[in-house]
Amino acid sequence: DDIPVLTIDGPTASGKGTLASAVAARLGYHLLDSGAVYRAAALAASRAGVDRDDEPALADLAARLDLRFGADGVWLGGDEVGESLRLEAIGSLASRISAWPRVRRALLDIQLAFHRLPGLVADGRDMGTVVFPVARLKVFLTASAAQRAERRYRQLISRGISANIDSLRADLEARDARDQSRSVSPSRPAPDALLLDNSALSIEDSVEQVLAAWQART
Ligand code: C5P
Repeated sequence: DDIPVLTIDGPTASGKGTLASAVAARLGYHLLDSGAVYRAAALAASRAGVDRDDEPALADLAARLDLRFGADGVWLGGDEVGESLRLEAIGSLASRISAWPRVRRALLDIQLAFHRLPGLVADGRDMGTVVFPVARLKVFLTASAAQRAERRYRQLISRGISANIDSLRADLEARDARDQSRSVSPSRPAPDALLLDNSALSIEDSVEQVLAAWQART
Protein backbone atom coordinates (compact mmCIF):
# COMPACT_ATOMS: atom_id res chain seq x y z
CA ASP A 1 0.00 0.00 0.00
CA ASP A 2 1.53 3.26 -1.10
CA ILE A 3 -0.73 5.83 0.55
CA PRO A 4 1.38 7.21 3.41
CA VAL A 5 0.08 7.12 6.98
CA LEU A 6 1.46 8.76 10.12
CA THR A 7 -0.18 7.70 13.40
CA ILE A 8 -0.24 9.56 16.70
CA ASP A 9 -1.53 7.58 19.68
CA GLY A 10 -1.54 8.49 23.34
CA PRO A 11 -3.63 9.00 26.45
CA THR A 12 -6.46 11.44 27.07
CA ALA A 13 -5.53 15.11 26.71
CA SER A 14 -1.92 14.35 25.77
CA GLY A 15 -2.20 16.94 23.00
CA LYS A 16 -2.38 14.38 20.19
CA GLY A 17 -5.34 16.08 18.51
CA THR A 18 -3.56 19.43 18.33
CA LEU A 19 -0.34 17.79 17.16
CA ALA A 20 -2.10 15.62 14.56
CA SER A 21 -4.01 18.51 13.03
CA ALA A 22 -0.88 20.69 12.84
CA VAL A 23 1.15 17.88 11.23
CA ALA A 24 -1.67 17.06 8.78
CA ALA A 25 -1.88 20.74 7.77
CA ARG A 26 1.89 20.93 7.22
CA LEU A 27 1.91 17.77 5.08
CA GLY A 28 -1.36 18.58 3.29
CA TYR A 29 -2.77 15.21 4.40
CA HIS A 30 -6.20 14.08 5.53
CA LEU A 31 -6.82 13.97 9.27
CA LEU A 32 -8.61 11.23 11.22
CA ASP A 33 -9.62 12.05 14.80
CA SER A 34 -10.63 8.49 15.70
CA GLY A 35 -11.68 9.59 19.19
CA ALA A 36 -14.43 11.63 17.53
CA VAL A 37 -15.73 8.45 15.87
CA TYR A 38 -15.99 6.71 19.28
CA ARG A 39 -17.50 9.85 20.77
CA ALA A 40 -20.10 10.00 17.99
CA ALA A 41 -21.07 6.39 18.70
CA ALA A 42 -21.33 7.29 22.40
CA LEU A 43 -23.51 10.32 21.63
CA ALA A 44 -25.77 8.23 19.40
CA ALA A 45 -26.06 5.60 22.15
CA SER A 46 -26.86 8.21 24.74
CA ARG A 47 -29.52 9.79 22.52
CA ALA A 48 -31.06 6.42 21.72
CA GLY A 49 -31.03 5.41 25.38
CA VAL A 50 -28.94 2.29 24.69
CA ASP A 51 -27.35 0.81 27.81
CA ARG A 52 -23.55 1.11 27.89
CA ASP A 53 -23.29 -2.61 28.64
CA ASP A 54 -25.55 -3.81 25.83
CA GLU A 55 -22.82 -4.85 23.39
CA PRO A 56 -25.08 -6.18 20.60
CA ALA A 57 -27.29 -3.07 20.58
CA LEU A 58 -24.24 -0.78 20.70
CA ALA A 59 -22.56 -2.65 17.85
CA ASP A 60 -25.73 -2.45 15.80
CA LEU A 61 -25.99 1.27 16.39
CA ALA A 62 -22.29 1.74 15.56
CA ALA A 63 -22.68 -0.17 12.29
CA ARG A 64 -25.53 2.13 11.24
CA LEU A 65 -23.86 5.36 12.38
CA ASP A 66 -24.66 8.16 9.92
CA LEU A 67 -21.53 10.20 10.53
CA ARG A 68 -19.97 12.81 8.28
CA PHE A 69 -16.89 14.95 8.85
CA GLY A 70 -16.99 18.06 6.69
CA ALA A 71 -15.68 21.59 6.46
CA ASP A 72 -19.07 22.60 7.87
CA GLY A 73 -18.67 20.50 11.03
CA VAL A 74 -19.30 16.99 12.28
CA TRP A 75 -22.71 15.67 11.34
CA LEU A 76 -24.59 12.86 13.02
CA GLY A 77 -27.70 12.32 10.94
CA GLY A 78 -29.14 15.82 10.48
CA ASP A 79 -27.43 17.38 13.51
CA GLU A 80 -24.14 19.23 13.77
CA VAL A 81 -22.56 17.65 16.85
CA GLY A 82 -19.03 19.11 16.98
CA GLU A 83 -19.64 20.78 20.35
CA SER A 84 -21.58 17.90 21.90
CA LEU A 85 -18.78 15.46 21.09
CA ARG A 86 -16.37 17.44 23.28
CA LEU A 87 -18.47 17.01 26.45
CA GLU A 88 -16.62 15.16 29.23
CA ALA A 89 -19.62 12.89 29.79
CA ILE A 90 -19.47 11.81 26.13
CA GLY A 91 -15.71 11.18 26.30
CA SER A 92 -16.26 9.10 29.37
CA LEU A 93 -19.10 7.10 27.79
CA ALA A 94 -16.92 6.63 24.67
CA SER A 95 -14.24 5.06 26.82
CA ARG A 96 -16.83 2.60 28.23
CA ILE A 97 -18.37 1.49 24.95
CA SER A 98 -15.01 1.36 23.13
CA ALA A 99 -14.04 -1.60 25.30
CA TRP A 100 -16.57 -3.79 23.44
CA PRO A 101 -14.87 -5.71 20.60
CA ARG A 102 -17.98 -5.66 18.40
CA VAL A 103 -18.28 -1.90 18.74
CA ARG A 104 -14.63 -1.48 17.70
CA ARG A 105 -15.13 -3.76 14.69
CA ALA A 106 -18.28 -1.87 13.62
CA LEU A 107 -16.38 1.43 13.63
CA LEU A 108 -13.41 0.15 11.63
CA ASP A 109 -14.70 0.95 8.11
CA ILE A 110 -15.43 4.59 8.97
CA GLN A 111 -11.79 4.94 10.06
CA LEU A 112 -10.26 3.04 7.13
CA ALA A 113 -12.18 5.26 4.68
CA PHE A 114 -9.89 8.15 5.67
CA HIS A 115 -6.92 6.34 4.14
CA ARG A 116 -6.84 8.25 0.87
CA LEU A 117 -4.32 10.12 -1.24
CA PRO A 118 -2.28 12.17 -0.72
CA GLY A 119 -1.91 10.68 2.78
CA LEU A 120 -3.28 10.48 6.29
CA VAL A 121 -2.45 11.57 9.82
CA ALA A 122 -4.53 9.52 12.27
CA ASP A 123 -4.77 10.05 16.01
CA GLY A 124 -6.24 7.86 18.73
CA ARG A 125 -5.30 4.89 20.91
CA ASP A 126 -4.78 2.01 18.48
CA MET A 127 -3.98 3.75 15.20
CA GLY A 128 -0.42 2.35 15.04
CA THR A 129 -1.13 -1.01 16.67
CA VAL A 130 -4.41 -2.11 15.07
CA VAL A 131 -6.02 0.17 12.48
CA PHE A 132 -2.94 1.28 10.49
CA PRO A 133 -0.14 -1.16 11.39
CA VAL A 134 1.40 -0.28 8.00
CA ALA A 135 2.00 3.32 9.09
CA ARG A 136 5.36 4.71 8.02
CA LEU A 137 5.77 6.57 11.30
CA LYS A 138 4.03 5.77 14.60
CA VAL A 139 4.23 8.31 17.37
CA PHE A 140 3.16 7.61 20.95
CA LEU A 141 2.62 10.88 22.73
CA THR A 142 2.63 11.21 26.50
CA ALA A 143 2.55 13.98 29.08
CA SER A 144 2.23 13.89 32.86
CA ALA A 145 -1.29 13.53 34.32
CA ALA A 146 -0.91 16.93 36.01
CA GLN A 147 -0.03 18.58 32.69
CA ARG A 148 -2.89 16.89 30.87
CA ALA A 149 -5.46 17.84 33.52
CA GLU A 150 -4.19 21.41 33.43
CA ARG A 151 -4.48 21.62 29.62
CA ARG A 152 -7.94 20.10 29.57
CA TYR A 153 -8.98 22.54 32.33
CA ARG A 154 -7.77 25.56 30.35
CA GLN A 155 -9.44 24.27 27.18
CA LEU A 156 -12.81 23.98 28.91
CA ILE A 157 -12.57 27.33 30.69
CA SER A 158 -11.64 29.08 27.42
CA ARG A 159 -14.80 27.67 25.90
CA GLY A 160 -16.84 29.05 28.79
CA ILE A 161 -17.44 25.62 30.34
CA SER A 162 -16.90 25.45 34.10
CA ALA A 163 -14.58 22.73 35.32
CA ASN A 164 -12.82 21.39 38.39
CA ILE A 165 -9.18 20.44 37.90
CA ASP A 166 -9.10 17.67 40.52
CA SER A 167 -12.15 15.92 39.16
CA LEU A 168 -10.82 16.32 35.60
CA ARG A 169 -7.58 14.63 36.63
CA ALA A 170 -9.39 11.83 38.46
CA ASP A 171 -11.59 11.28 35.40
CA LEU A 172 -8.73 11.20 32.92
CA GLU A 173 -6.72 8.81 35.08
CA ALA A 174 -9.74 6.50 35.36
CA ARG A 175 -10.22 6.68 31.62
CA ASP A 176 -6.53 5.93 30.91
CA ALA A 177 -6.65 2.94 33.26
CA ARG A 178 -9.67 1.60 31.37
CA ASP A 179 -8.13 2.25 27.95
CA GLN A 180 -4.87 0.53 28.96
CA SER A 181 -6.37 -2.52 30.64
CA ARG A 182 -9.07 -3.54 28.17
CA SER A 183 -8.45 -6.84 26.42
CA VAL A 184 -9.11 -5.57 22.90
CA SER A 185 -6.88 -2.85 21.38
CA PRO A 186 -5.50 -1.61 24.70
CA SER A 187 -3.86 1.80 24.51
CA ARG A 188 -0.13 1.15 24.31
CA PRO A 189 2.80 2.11 22.07
CA ALA A 190 3.43 -0.03 18.99
CA PRO A 191 6.79 -1.85 19.35
CA ASP A 192 8.20 0.40 16.62
CA ALA A 193 6.68 3.64 17.94
CA LEU A 194 8.58 6.85 18.51
CA LEU A 195 7.93 7.83 22.14
CA LEU A 196 7.46 11.55 22.61
CA ASP A 197 6.87 13.16 26.03
CA ASN A 198 5.60 16.68 25.40
CA SER A 199 5.29 17.75 29.07
CA ALA A 200 8.05 20.31 28.54
CA LEU A 201 7.65 20.91 24.78
CA SER A 202 5.78 23.66 23.00
CA ILE A 203 3.32 22.62 20.30
CA GLU A 204 5.69 24.00 17.65
CA ASP A 205 8.59 21.92 19.01
CA SER A 206 6.48 18.75 19.01
CA VAL A 207 5.38 19.43 15.43
CA GLU A 208 9.00 19.96 14.30
CA GLN A 209 10.17 16.74 16.01
CA VAL A 210 7.44 14.69 14.35
CA LEU A 211 8.05 16.25 10.92
CA ALA A 212 11.79 15.60 11.25
CA ALA A 213 11.13 11.94 12.07
CA TRP A 214 8.70 11.75 9.14
CA GLN A 215 11.21 13.23 6.71
CA ALA A 216 13.81 10.74 7.91
CA ARG A 217 11.50 7.93 6.83
CA THR A 218 10.45 9.19 3.40
O1 C5P B 1 -9.26 10.69 22.21
P1 C5P B 1 -10.60 10.92 22.83
O2 C5P B 1 -10.54 11.38 24.24
O3 C5P B 1 -11.47 11.79 21.98
O4 C5P B 1 -11.30 9.47 22.83
C1 C5P B 1 -12.44 9.20 23.61
C2 C5P B 1 -12.42 7.72 24.02
O5 C5P B 1 -12.57 6.90 22.85
C3 C5P B 1 -11.10 7.27 24.63
O6 C5P B 1 -11.08 7.40 26.05
C4 C5P B 1 -10.99 5.82 24.22
O7 C5P B 1 -11.60 4.96 25.17
C5 C5P B 1 -11.79 5.73 22.95
N1 C5P B 1 -10.92 5.59 21.78
C6 C5P B 1 -10.50 4.33 21.44
N2 C5P B 1 -9.74 4.13 20.34
C7 C5P B 1 -9.37 5.17 19.57
C8 C5P B 1 -9.78 6.48 19.91
C9 C5P B 1 -10.55 6.66 21.04
O8 C5P B 1 -10.82 3.37 22.14
N3 C5P B 1 -8.65 4.93 18.48
